Amino acid sequence: MNGNKEVKQRIAELKKEKDAVILAHYYVDGEVQEIADYVGDSYYLAEKATTIPAGTIIFCGVSFMGESAKILNPEKKVIMADQKADCPMAHMIETERIHEVREQYPDAAVVCYVNSTAEIKAESDVCVTSSNAIRIVKKLPNKDIFFIPDNNLGRYAAKQLPEKHFIFHDGFCHVHTSIHREEVLKAKEVHPEALILAHPECTEEVLELADFIGSTSQILDYATQSEEKVFLICTEMGIFYELQQKNPGKKFYSVGHRQFCPNMKRIKLESVLEALERMGPEVQLDEEIRQKAKLPLERMLQLAA
Ligand code: 13P
Ligand code: SF4
Repeated sequence: MNGNKEVKQRIAELKKEKDAVILAHYYVDGEVQEIADYVGDSYYLAEKATTIPAGTIIFCGVSFMGESAKILNPEKKVIMADQKADCPMAHMIETERIHEVREQYPDAAVVCYVNSTAEIKAESDVCVTSSNAIRIVKKLPNKDIFFIPDNNLGRYAAKQLPEKHFIFHDGFCHVHTSIHREEVLKAKEVHPEALILAHPECTEEVLELADFIGSTSQILDYATQSEEKVFLICTEMGIFYELQQKNPGKKFYSVGHRQFCPNMKRIKLESVLEALERMGPEVQLDEEIRQKAKLPLERMLQLAA
C-alpha cells in the first residue's frame, strides 16, 4: 500500500476514535488540506473553531491561529500539528510599544492583526484579519487607530479610510514583502492577459499593480467567480492547491520563487498523524492573558458579522 495512503487512512481512523477535527490554512501543503475537515483563511478558521462540536481541534497552521482557537474555546483541546510552526510577524511588536502609544494617543483604538501573540491581543481593543480590517476599523468610533503589527496591511487599510488617523507599526511578512514589483511586471509581460490578485501583506508598490486585493479566501472567491481565465497570484504558494481544485480550467501563475512560508510548510501528513497519536502538543495559555485576549477577538467576530 502507498505510504501516504496508509497515513491518510490512519488519520481518518484516529480522528473518529478521538473525536477530533482537523482545521487547516490555505498555505499548508495540498495533501494536508486534502485530509482536513475545514480549510480556510485566518478569519474563517477562528470563527469555525467556535462552532464545531468536537472536543479536539488539530490545527494545521501557525501558532497564532491555534492560540486564537484556544482563546475562544478554552474547554477544547487545541493541538498544533507542528508546535514550531510560528509566524515571525506575530513577534514583531512588544507590549511596551502599545503602552507608549496609548500614553501619547489616549483616545486611540489599538487594532491588532490576528498575526500576533496572545499577549499582544490581550493589550488590544479589537482584532482584525486581512478579510475584515477595513470594515472593522470603519465601524470604530475612534479617529486615532494604532494598527499593529503589519505595516503593509495597516497602510492599505489607511488608504481606504482617509477619515481616520493611523499610527503604524513596522511589522511585516517576509514572504509577502519578498514579492517585488519588478517580478510582477515581468510576469505580466509574459502573461499580459492575466489579472493580478494580491494579499494586502504585499508592499504598497505591488498592491498598486493589483486588479484585486484580498485575504486568501477572498482571492479564491474572486478567481472562482471571475470570467477571466489567467491569474498572477501574489501570495503564498499553498493557495494554488485550492485555486486549481476549484478552477480546473483556469491558469494560475506565481510571480517569483520566494512565495513560500517555511513555517506553514513544516506541517506534513506525518505531523498530523503524530499529533493525533500523541494527542499533543496542546496549546497552553495563561488564563489571565486568555481572558483578556478573548475580548478583542470576540469584538472582531461581532463587528465582522
Ligand atoms: P489570511 O487571513 O488571508 O488567511 O492570511 C493569513 C496569513 O498569514 C497571511 O500571510
Ligand atoms: Fe506569517 Fe507571512 Fe507565513 Fe503568513 S505567510 S504565516 S504572515 S510568515
